Amino acid sequence: MERKKEVLEAAEKELPLLLDADRIHWSKEWLLLHGSDETEDLSFPPDVVVEPESTDEVSKLLAWANRHAFPVTAAGARTGLSGGALPVKGGMAMSMRRMNRIWSIDTLNHQAIVGPGVITEELSNAAEAHGLMYAVDPASRGTCTIGGNIAENSGGPRAVKYGVTKDWVLNLEVVLADGRVIETGANTLKNSTGYNLTQLMVGSEGTLGIVTKATLKLLPLPRHQALMLVPFSSAEDACAAVAAIFQSGAMPSALEFMERDAIVLAQTYAGVSEPVLSPEDAAHLIVEVDGFSAQDLMPQCERILPVLEAHRCGEVLFAESASEKEKLWFLRRRVGEAVKAESVYKEEDTVVPRGELPALLRKVKSVGVKHGFRTVCYGHAGDGNLHVNILKDDLSEEVWERMLPSAIRELFQEVVRLGGTLSGEHGIGWVQRGYMDLACSPAQLDLMRAIKAVIDPQGILNPGKVLPEREA
Ligand code: LAC
Ligand code: ZN
Repeated sequence: MERKKEVLEAAEKELPLLLDADRIHWSKEWLLLHGSDETEDLSFPPDVVVEPESTDEVSKLLAWANRHAFPVTAAGARTGLSGGALPVKGGMAMSMRRMNRIWSIDTLNHQAIVGPGVITEELSNAAEAHGLMYAVDPASRGTCTIGGNIAENSGGPRAVKYGVTKDWVLNLEVVLADGRVIETGANTLKNSTGYNLTQLMVGSEGTLGIVTKATLKLLPLPRHQALMLVPFSSAEDACAAVAAIFQSGAMPSALEFMERDAIVLAQTYAGVSEPVLSPEDAAHLIVEVDGFSAQDLMPQCERILPVLEAHRCGEVLFAESASEKEKLWFLRRRVGEAVKAESVYKEEDTVVPRGELPALLRKVKSVGVKHGFRTVCYGHAGDGNLHVNILKDDLSEEVWERMLPSAIRELFQEVVRLGGTLSGEHGIGWVQRGYMDLACSPAQLDLMRAIKAVIDPQGILNPGKVLPEREA
């Protein structure tokens, strides 16, 4: 305690030497704001919030924090769902929001260089203005930042065709715990030069370094999409259709699953009445195909439609106009917020090989029946990535607290048995690390700990995340 007081006194005196005082915040309001993200209703206020504007400032701040063994947790828009940006051990919350410059859109090499605070959709729009696409599209794309996406290796609906954040990062500028600045690779499409530090940093949730600049790959923009909304009277049939769609040779640009409750909650939350559900609709798939011309689309739909019919789908609804398509995607992107508004909940970001989706859904439902809770499932079916939301509804606090960890463990055990793992795109952060032993062997965890110890020997970078606490 004494030591902490000394460090805070030093911080008050010395931080203003490193960056403008109006970008250092001690007020309760700032601390509370930066103590939470979108994960449940968790709150871990830091001791101070700083807003660096340059790599040099980040470097100086980290060197200072390292000298004082003061925790540093970087954050973007705090839209994360695993508590990755929560300063669980207090210390310094480092908001990367001001480092939001798009340094370049390189149309010759199809690359963008951006600061970590750039909002993902702003990058997509900037690329689109040049006929290019930044392919990663998390549901929170209108608010989330590239730095946060890199930290959590974020995905989104288009990941099924285009991959997740890791597939688009060519090179990173990273500040290490002691303040040294490195580039992890080169701005080239290929790179076999030494260990792959770029991919070590992607998804490391701010525990190995702080990204201050990213070189990202862009693609020519496919301007045409066909979008289908497909009802099923059996949610398991909908899940079984997913792998079969790929077996037909089709390559959808999105293949999403939504249980009936997910749609109903999103409709209520967003105040919309479409699509009109029929009583027997248990689940829907959203299937999108894309291309560079309208003629590219029909051959793909012709492969997909018979597969859907073979899995007993209802009447397929095509979203015809751009506004119909946007309405459907708008609804889909609201599901997460809608669940949050419905009840206290716990979200799991399960992922299995996609052929195992029906088995995963079966298990989710049977664990729910056994423990007496409702689940709302939706997500990126084409990736085998099912967001499982466990709702508290009117369960008592006591039952909820007692039952939840064992129910989640049971679910994750099955996920791993099916060849899957704990998180597809939301990260481990704070809330899932207690389950890491299920997905990673002791040798794997030892290796991760050893890497962390070499890169961040004082343990200042986002402490308390990813790796489970050691048994006492
Ligand atoms: C989604 C977020 C929760 O898929 O990942 O809506
Ligand atoms: Zn998702």
